[in-house]
Amino acid sequence: MNENAIEMKDIVKSFGTVQAVKNGQFTLRQGEIHSLIGENGAGKSTMMKLLYGLYPIDSGEIRVNGERMKSMDPKTAIAKGIGMVHQEFMLVKELTVLENIILGFEPRNGLVIDFDAARKMVQQYIDQYGMDVQLNKKISQISVGEAQRVEIIKILCRGANIIILDEPTAVLTPQEAQHLFEILQNLKKGGKSITFISHKLNEVMEISDRISVMRQGNYIGTVNKEDTSPVQLAKMMIGREVFLNIEKTKAKVGKTVLEVKDLWTSGEKEISKIRGVSLDVHAGEIVGVAGIDGNGQSELIEAITGLRRVEKGAVLLDGRNVTNFPVRKIRAEGLAHIPEDRNTRGLNRGMSIRDNLVADKIDKSPYSSHFRIQLDACKEYAQELAGKFDIRPRNTEAPTSALSGGNAQKVVVAREVSGATSLLVASQPTRGVDIGAIESIRSTLQEVKAQNVGVLLVSADLEEILSLSDRIVVMYEGRITGRMRADEATEENLGLLMMGDTDQEKEW
Ligand SMILES: Nc1ncnc2c1ncn2[C@@H]1O[C@H](COP(=O)(O)OP(=O)(O)O)[C@@H](O)[C@H]1O
Ligand SMILES: [Mg+2]
Repeated sequence: MNENAIEMKDIVKSFGTVQAVKNGQFTLRQGEIHSLIGENGAGKSTMMKLLYGLYPIDSGEIRVNGERMKSMDPKTAIAKGIGMVHQEFMLVKELTVLENIILGFEPRNGLVIDFDAARKMVQQYIDQYGMDVQLNKKISQISVGEAQRVEIIKILCRGANIIILDEPTAVLTPQEAQHLFEILQNLKKGGKSITFISHKLNEVMEISDRISVMRQGNYIGTVNKEDTSPVQLAKMMIGREVFLNIEKTKAKVGKTVLEVKDLWTSGEKEISKIRGVSLDVHAGEIVGVAGIDGNGQSELIEAITGLRRVEKGAVLLDGRNVTNFPVRKIRAEGLAHIPEDRNTRGLNRGMSIRDNLVADKIDKSPYSSHFRIQLDACKEYAQELAGKFDIRPRNTEAPTSALSGGNAQKVVVAREVSGATSLLVASQPTRGVDIGAIESIRSTLQEVKAQNVGVLLVSADLEEILSLSDRIVVMYEGRITGRMRADEATEENLGLLMMGDTDQEKEW
């Protein structure tokens, strides 16, 4: 057998004018766990989709077990033993686990599906790799972690020896991620070759034999796990030194700026998505809301900021009841909001950077006077913010649509932070932005806190919650399952709370 399961050389791939991969290199040795890392948009998923044959390459060379592939398509990829677990699961919700696994290649006894034979085959994989799945349950009844294991069994049943997982831990709790890592180690022992895409450096340092880094479509290098460190990897990813651990400033806790009392509100589908949530935030502290996406965090924030109707309960800002006030009035009371979705709620992408930066002040002096917008004052202010928050490019007359994700987010952060006098609500403030911007946004939140503003931080990223918060609440299925001071919190106890285990609660 060739020593390399996969070799990808000099890969180029564009989508229209976007050069997703400019110089892609990737070699997967037989039986290794090889992580592919890089910032959002670096080209990782594209590389693996090219390998799986979801798109053709523009140029370059792909070899599977030494064999040069003339062209790739998923059917060929599967035939060559490549299996891919995508970021989005592709399971049929109303079918059972077993039915999903055998879908499309059911073992038959004459014309009838031979479920006994299928069950036996699947059970072998479950036992061999320690998978823990319940074959008779419907997909709609199982957890995300279990669904992921089903996807893995599915590709194993199709004969995969080369397994690609695209950001598998993004949707998992720390405990589920640990379980996945055990399975990956078992797969490796069983001789499988594994590509693991991630941008979480601690995970990569735990699971990998080797690590390859991409940046802006280019191959940067490959290192052995033993020979590297998170700091070196971060530097390779971003191209300069970064400070991953910002110093947490000591909070001088002041008066209560936000009080949420027994709040109930509806979701898109559920009548009551949020059921009886209470919490408070003081001036000069960051309260983190942890939880897996979709457990009511978005609805809670919308209810607090006036974007969603409160059914029952109350929201008090600086002691004043603002429940179901219009957004504009709540903002006038000193609440600022970095919304989860910057493109639909945070920015008007058709306007200039300047207009987005002054949007909330445009009707006030000195930005307008005698009913006329004072363009010079607006420009000056926009330039000042662009400098302070390092928005690139600095030309604030440029359209906002020209900005990268990280810089667009800095525009939202700059505008909101400068408008926060009592409370800043920051929802997933660093999601999908590059490490440089993450670093800058996180230190901005620390500065806001130092200026005696309260911060309510919602993040699905536990590392972010742990590195910024003074106190932490965990949400699960529309309720708070636990609260604790940050110094009591660990990935483990937060992870358990994120799965609904309420025994972890500590003094708050
Ligand atoms: N199907 C597509 N059409 C257009 N652009 C795409 C497509 N897929 C990826 N891109 C672009 O290619 C670049 C690399 O994307 P991707 O491979 O998904 O990065 P990563 O997985 O490292 O975050 C990004 O700029 C992305 O917007
Ligand atoms: Mg990706």
